[in-house]
Amino acid sequence: MSKQKISYSCQSCSYKTVKWLGCCPECSQWDTFKKKELIGKTKHGVTKKTTGVHLTSLENITTKKQERMRTGIGEWDRVIGNGIVPGSLLILTGDPGIGKSTLLLQVAHYLAQKNAVFYFSTEESLQQVKIRAQRLNIDSSLLFCDVAQIENIIATIEKHQPDLVIIDSIQNCYSANTTNFAGSIAQLREITFELMRLAKENNIAIILSGHVTKDGHIAGPKTLEHMVDAVFYLQKEDRWQTRILRAVKNRFGTINELGFFQMGANGMQEIANINQNVLNESSPAAGSVLVSVLEGSRPLLIELQALTIPSKLAVSQRVISGVDHKQVVLIAAILEKYLQIRLSAQDIFFKISGGMRIKSSCIDLGIALALLSSYFQLPLPKKSLALGEISLTGQIKPINHFDQFAKEAKKFGFERLFVAKNQTPNQTKQLMSFATVYELLKLFTNE
Ligand code: TYD
Ligand code: MG
Repeated sequence: MSKQKISYSCQSCSYKTVKWLGCCPECSQWDTFKKKELIGKTKHGVTKKTTGVHLTSLENITTKKQERMRTGIGEWDRVIGNGIVPGSLLILTGDPGIGKSTLLLQVAHYLAQKNAVFYFSTEESLQQVKIRAQRLNIDSSLLFCDVAQIENIIATIEKHQPDLVIIDSIQNCYSANTTNFAGSIAQLREITFELMRLAKENNIAIILSGHVTKDGHIAGPKTLEHMVDAVFYLQKEDRWQTRILRAVKNRFGTINELGFFQMGANGMQEIANINQNVLNESSPAAGSVLVSVLEGSRPLLIELQALTIPSKLAVSQRVISGVDHKQVVLIAAILEKYLQIRLSAQDIFFKISGGMRIKSSCIDLGIALALLSSYFQLPLPKKSLALGEISLTGQIKPINHFDQFAKEAKKFGFERLFVAKNQTPNQTKQLMSFATVYELLKLFTNE
């Protein structure tokens, strides 16, 4: 007969121990351990008597082509991966008040025109949902419910088999069938696991919303990221009140796409042409340079801003945000070495307007030009764009995907493109090419 084994499990975080403890070493909660008896299990926790599983070859697995659900909101559809895949479990997270409920209600509204969509509002009452819907001018076949008990939600979904379910938010759901605390990570995980099973078994797409709290690592949806098919973040930009939708995990699409929205009086409006905003706001001034980076499939215009002033301290300051600190310091060192400009005696302030963060070597040339432009107090010509990498030897190197950037530059009427000498053979008058950093000086001096 197998020996009866006993273990204790923390009801808050699922930490396991063989002895009862007063305080959990994992989550520091008191009096959370409950006894569990493991009967007839082997050393590895597997029940001894099983019937085995059925194995199958690739050719016997059938796949059916499933149409993705598109909303018609271009920015949403592109980031999601060209529509929602039936049977997938997605999670949309972001700070409270960022616009998750608003965006999800709009998405639900558009999808409800062709699909059966259920909206479970576990956080807000139905009256509150109605007030929001009126503000968004939504009047569709969407069905709402404000029940938060997960067993009830699952039973309803299994019975009616809708195409899409939205649960806003997952943190407010609770389970009646578990000994774990409501709102604990252990329960959140259990609920998410059940929803994943429900989505896969019934081929129903489910979108969960969740907020990132200050201690989001523990209580928030961070812990759920590995369990779901896709994770999207809705973040706020300081300029233009822009909301950026970003995929951080996507089993059915890429994770580089960004979607831009603006919170207006009637909900979230997509900003299909964010580059036009950047162009309108940037003015030719010393230290400002426009560059472009590829975010997903779309080249984004970004304005770099540099300010150099003679340092009053023994050690000069470097205050850099939006780009890698080392990248700017390195380019400053290259310019100092090859152009004999004493940037080390200058304080350097560097930022990206709009509070974006970018990591790309395509902006090397832009950084160099921004530093030189501020140093010489001379603006670059109007409507110019810098696209190039710089090597440690001071050579200017071509970038990948140049054609995509050139097309975007043409669309926005750029008159000057600063590029590497061997970037492209067919030279037009818009292109101004440089082989080394020495040649950059001719833009600012008469040499
Ligand atoms: P909400 O979608 O409730 O955010 P979340 O679900 O992420 O917590 O959005 C709340 C904010 O958006 C609130 O401050 C009001 C504002 N808002 C608008 O500005 N316009 C609108 O049309 C709506 C519906 C909300
Ligand atoms: Mg909300």
